[in-house]
Formats: sequence, structure tokens, C-alpha cells
Amino acid sequence: CGIVGYVTGGTACGKPLEVCLQGLGRLEYRGYDSSGVALSAPGMEKVSFRKKEGRLENLIDDIAVHPMPLATAGIGHTRWATNGAPSDINAHPHMSGNEKVAVIHNGIIENAPQLKQQLIDEGYTFESSTDTEIAAKLLGKVAEEIIAQTGEPDIFEALRRVARQLEGTFTLLATDCRQPHVVVGARHDSPLVVGLGDDENFLGSDVAAFVAYTTEALELGQDEAVEITPDTVKVTDFDGNPVELRPFTVDWDASAVEKGGWDSFMNKEIHEQPQAVADTLLGRFNLDGDLNLDEVRIDEEVFRSIDKIIVIACGTAAYAGMVAKYAIEHWVRIPVEVELAHEFRYRDPILNSRTLVIAISQSGETMDTLMALRHAREQGSRVLAICNTQGSTIPRESDAVLYTHAGPEIAVASTKAFVAQIIAAYLIGLYLAQVKGAMYRDEIRDIVDDLRAMPAKIQRVLDTQAEAVESAAQAMVDAQSFLFLGRHVGYPVAMEGALKLKEIAYTFTEGFAAGELKHGPIALVDSGEPVVVIVPPARGRNVLHSKVLSAIEEVRARGAYTIAVAEEGDEDVREYADIVFWRPQCPTLMSPLVDVIPLQLLAMDMAKLKGLDIDKPRNLAKSVTVE
Ligand code: G6P
Repeated sequence: CGIVGYVTGGTACGKPLEVCLQGLGRLEYRGYDSSGVALSAPGMEKVSFRKKEGRLENLIDDIAVHPMPLATAGIGHTRWATNGAPSDINAHPHMSGNEKVAVIHNGIIENAPQLKQQLIDEGYTFESSTDTEIAAKLLGKVAEEIIAQTGEPDIFEALRRVARQLEGTFTLLATDCRQPHVVVGARHDSPLVVGLGDDENFLGSDVAAFVAYTTEALELGQDEAVEITPDTVKVTDFDGNPVELRPFTVDWDASAVEKGGWDSFMNKEIHEQPQAVADTLLGRFNLDGDLNLDEVRIDEEVFRSIDKIIVIACGTAAYAGMVAKYAIEHWVRIPVEVELAHEFRYRDPILNSRTLVIAISQSGETMDTLMALRHAREQGSRVLAICNTQGSTIPRESDAVLYTHAGPEIAVASTKAFVAQIIAAYLIGLYLAQVKGAMYRDEIRDIVDDLRAMPAKIQRVLDTQAEAVESAAQAMVDAQSFLFLGRHVGYPVAMEGALKLKEIAYTFTEGFAAGELKHGPIALVDSGEPVVVIVPPARGRNVLHSKVLSAIEEVRARGAYTIAVAEEGDEDVREYADIVFWRPQCPTLMSPLVDVIPLQLLAMDMAKLKGLDIDKPRNLAKSVTVE
């Protein structure tokens, strides 16, 4: 879910509503099945709130017809339903019994049933089937108790008391109309950052919520609570003890989260890939051309002792990890395992202080990955995060972080983060090879040169292949299913291509290792079945090249419509494939960076032809902050 909070000085005005709606627009990628806002202003008897099922436009349209009052504080929420189906009633905010307090929430409160029963026994009634309403009723009750004890409202203290009673995961934000210049928040295993303004302050589930207004921000740690007023920010633990503030400056500006003339964020982000790769390489070398990863605060000595790597990640990030496995094992000669974060944690993995765990996450908030990295650290392993989002939880809880500089990724289907993650993981591999002496300096430099050549090659694919991709999409738009196959690094690329098509075109796909074809999947191939094949380079007498061509032949013989991704100049491929997407020549280990591009475009074109929402596919959220 996406969360935004805002407070301003002076008299009531339209800005709290504006900031909330604008922030929700930026955060809609975090969930889009319902949305709502709550506003407080001096003199209000009750918090004013509005909420609507469906996309944010429904809420905006409703407010246009029935305007909301001017305010000094506001909170807003865009929901990805976990607890209670999407509906007006289940949308956030939820209100206290007397409607003086409104609450929004991201996460799952696990002891909600017990808390609810206690409240019912005390005479409370509930409208919705959400756990959030339970937190709202409880917060309202505690707020009243504090007023009864002290004569003054103190929603900050009330929220801390409630936070201490909750189990599960949560970010909670609240506004109390008796304190209209205050917004409070608390977080446990769920994201929240503070934006610092002038006579105004902000809260958001990530910086996208407020980057249009400020780039000065504060991280909040685990189990911390925050109170913002127009000119103060207080951060404490749940017991009220002050904690150290961790300020940072957001390194992208508001325009980075705009579509900027593109018809979708995905299209924009696909075309930003040359830049994402170039920016992720930038500044990672010293004047001699040696890799310099000083920002990764792990001693060289520790790096030298590493004898195994485990990559943990989910979705696209896991496929980036699979690509990196081939490169790192080849370069560093130590084993690299890649494991889906949610599986890793529950299988008693073998870890010790010589294991480097690399947690890859675009958002830095994926709960499965976060839980897996905590487990790894408990077992004494070092965790190095590869992440695209400053101020997020995964880098903060890791021993070190290497940021991908892909810029904000808004479309739910990940594109530029994927190529940037591969680059970052390659840099770690090369750095390990450098400190461990596993390769000669010149060898490393040659590979670095290859990496530096990739932005132009990606650009070339974007410039030359769009038409071929579009005609393939047109030819196959009605296909019921798609198969993707590849070998070596082409295998994870096939998986990623299949994932893209599933995510945004809702086409049933399977990606698999081409060598498996004859062990099962070939039974699926029927006349007209589209099969996308990643063909490795033919140069250097690559034995895999001919094996992959045989795979194409096998499916073609059974009537498949074959789409090959192959290297420019690989004339043999022409006679096997119905359509070819050409990649510029590059070493095998670099090929995923270009091969994935036409597959992203294919998914996007198919979704367009089907009239689907490219940036916000059904049932998905960009960052999944629940397990
Ligand atoms: C979700 C998104 C995917 C993404 C995955 C991992 O499932 O829909 O696009 O690859 O999470 O996200 P992360 O932010 O950890 O890279």
C-alpha cells in the first residue's frame, strides 16, 4: 500500500488535500484497488474523510463533486488489499469510534482477531472487515484514556501505546482533529520516510510521495514512531525514548517521477535503460581504472575470506541474480547459489561468516527478501544489498549496500532495475575477483570496457528492433500461451521475458532451460504455438549455439511460430526462425543486457494491443511489503 502524510503551518488551506492526492498519484504503483484521505483543521469536531474503491481517479472525481474542507493536516492511502476485499468500506482511512481520529495502515496486524474481540466486549462495533479498523478503534480508545488522565490530547503517545500492543507488520499514520497541526506515524517491518519542508513536513511510504515538494528526507528505523508538526520532527522508539535522526538527500527530482511525454511509465523506463546502465557504472572506478567500491563498507579482508555467495531476491530481481551467478562463478571461482527469498528462509540454509549474502531488491521493501536477509545475518553472514531506493529498509538492515542508479521505477513490471541489478552484481563479482586476485587486472579491465560499451548497444536495440517486435506482437496477440527458452545466461533471460508477458499481457507463459525441452515442455508445442528462443553468440565456436538452433528446429518441426533473439551477423538463425530480434555483438556474459530489451517491448506491445493497463496490471503491486 502507499501512504502519505502532511502538515502545514498557518490557517487551513487546500494544500493538505493537494499533497495527499498528488502523493497518492505517485504511490499508486504500490496498490490501486482503493484509496482515501482524511483531513484535520482547527475547529473541526470530527476528522473529515473520503474513500473510494478502485483507482485513485474515483476518489478525485468524488472530491470534485463533493469538495472536502480546507485543512492543516492530511493523510492519504492507496490500497493493495490483504485483509478484506477491495470496497469503499474496507478502503482506508478508518475512524475511531468518535471519528476524532483517522488511521491509515500498510501491513497485516496478526493479533487483530484477539484485539477485535476485546473491543467488541467493550461495546465497540465494526463496519469493515479490515485489521486497520481495529487499530483505529484502539487508537481512539487510548487517545481518550490519555485525555481523561492528563486533560490534553496526545495522539503521538497514544500511537506508541497502540504500536506496543500490535503484532505483525505495520506502518500506521494517524490524524486527530483535536491536534490539527500534528500527523503521527509508527513503523514495524513496513516502510515509512519523513520529508522535511519549510513550515510544512511530510511522511511517505517512500520518497516518491513527497519528492515534488522536497528532496530533504529522514530515514525511520524499525520500531520507531514519528510526530511531524509544521516546524518539528520528533522520532522515538515505541517507549518514547528519542532516537538518532538519519537525514539524507533524495538524488532524483520530481521530473523523474513524471511520464514526460511517454504513453506509459513502462515505455519510458524501457527507454531509460542505456542511462540506467551508464549511471550504475558511474563513479565506481578510480583514476587507474581499478574498481573502487569504497561505498560498500565491508573490509577488503572480509571480501577476501568469502568462499560462497548466496543471492536472495524475488521476481525480476531473482532473475538478475541468476544471470550474475554465471558471471561471478566464472570470474571468481566460488560457488554462487540463487534462491527465492521466501524459500531460502524456511529451508535451514547453510551459512557462516564466510558466506556473502547478496540481497537484490529494486524497492528495498520486499518483505520476503527482508525476512531472508535478517535470517542470514542472524546466522553470522554478511549481507550486501543491491537496491534502487534510498531510505528503504533492505539497505538499512544490510551490512552494506551498492545502489543501482536506475532512477525511480514506477511501472509495476520491472525493466530498467533489472539491467541495473545485473550491472551492480557484476561489479561486485569483479571487485571480488580483484581483491581475491582471481583474475589479472587486464582481464578485469577488458570486462569493464565491455560493460561500458553496453549502454550504446542497448540503445541500438531500442532504435532498430521496435518494428520487428511490434509485428511479432501483432502476429501473436491472440495466442493462448507462450514458451520462452534459453541456455546459460539466456535461461534467466527467458524466465524474465516470460514473467513480463505474464505480468502485463496476462498471457500464460513458461520460461525454461532449452535443454529441458525434450524432457517435458515439448509436449506443449502445437501448431502456431509461439516459442521465443534466446540464441547464444555463434562466435568463439560456442557449442551452445548449435544446440539452441536444434531446439528451435525441434519446436518448428511441430508447427511452432518461432521468435529468435540472436546476434547480428548470425545468418544461420534466419532459416530457423519466423522472426528474429537482433542483438549487437557482445560477449555472452553481456548478452542478457541486450536480449531482455525486445522481450520487454514484446510484453508491452502485447498489453497495448489487448488494451490493458501497462503500468498497473491487475492483482499486482510493485513492492510487496507483506509476506
Ligand atoms: C513484485 C513486483 C516485481 C518485482 C518483485 C521484487 O513482485 O511486482 O516486479 O520484481 O516484487 O521486487 P523488489 O522491489 O524486491 O525488486
